[in-house]
Amino acid sequence: SQGEVLPQPNEFQKLLQSLPIRKSLLNTNLYLYDGSWIGESCLESLIDFQQNFQAQDTDIILVTTPKSGTTWLKALVFTITQRFQYKISDENHPLVTTNPHGLVPFFESYRSIAAGMPRLFATHISYTMLPESIKTSKCKIIYLCRNPRDTFVSMWYFGHQIMSKLDPSSQFPSPEECLEQFCEGVIHYGPFWEQILQYWKLSNEMPEKVLFLKYEELKGDIIAQCKKMADFMNCSFSSEEENDGVIKDIAKFCSFEHLSNLEVNNQTEERSVPRLDNGMFFRKGEIGDWKNLITTSMAEKLDQFVEQKLQGSGLKL
Ligand code: A3P
Repeated sequence: SQGEVLPQPNEFQKLLQSLPIRKSLLNTNLYLYDGSWIGESCLESLIDFQQNFQAQDTDIILVTTPKSGTTWLKALVFTITQRFQYKISDENHPLVTTNPHGLVPFFESYRSIAAGMPRLFATHISYTMLPESIKTSKCKIIYLCRNPRDTFVSMWYFGHQIMSKLDPSSQFPSPEECLEQFCEGVIHYGPFWEQILQYWKLSNEMPEKVLFLKYEELKGDIIAQCKKMADFMNCSFSSEEENDGVIKDIAKFCSFEHLSNLEVNNQTEERSVPRLDNGMFFRKGEIGDWKNLITTSMAEKLDQFVEQKLQGSGLKL
């Protein structure tokens, strides 16, 4: 008798079979691809993006560690670059009706076209993984990271919330278990320190190509950081704009208080990233909230671990 003809695995399935695999904290598959742990649902569109994306010299690419303030950075860069097109007010600005993730698309979650000029895109991937045209064109990269304690705690709450929505019968691992896996590097886009170090070094070697920012610095002096971003993107604020309070208006408009209170970011049904409610990107927006989840000794252990990884780089987080 003739045997059943099984469907042949396609190229992507063959690739998946060849990659190291681990479980994420959400109990989904992570694959080690090009040195980073990538979720199965992102990998196919990411490879498509790597192979087909053509950067333009005017593009601006926002690269961030997950939970480091991506949503905030998207809002700020959108508002700064589009300020001549959209007046900063609650009347008709796109940010009032659209979550920042709907205005600045992620490369890895779906193929989408950025609206407006300059084109703005975001991603969480390492420099190694970026398509060649981003590296060879004059397009610019803004990188954002955050203190690992707060990044970790933000990630824990985010994961916990996703798990309770997607799979209420499952238990999200404890902070202790999560911290272990965080430091092992087996988290989405991990190991986080390798990515941070990579962009840190590049920002020192090619300051006109990569701007390196920290969440804490944005919180510390948002006006100075907005100016720095605008200068870097070749759309500096004029002294007239500065005197008119435009930078202050932008900072206020993109603040946690303003954005998180908008209806579009409050209604749980609104979604700009597949499966994730807009409101999930706004939790507390504070520095030091780690204190409410992990012990001082866990935090100190994490610090020691990170210090060791960053040793000799000149970077402090
Ligand atoms: P917390 O969980 O500590 O509150 P990402 O956008 O990369 O997913 O990061 C989410 C983190 O940024 C969350 O931190 C969220 O509350 C905070 N955040 C979101 N919008 C912000 C804003 N406009 N200003 C400051 N922090 C913001």
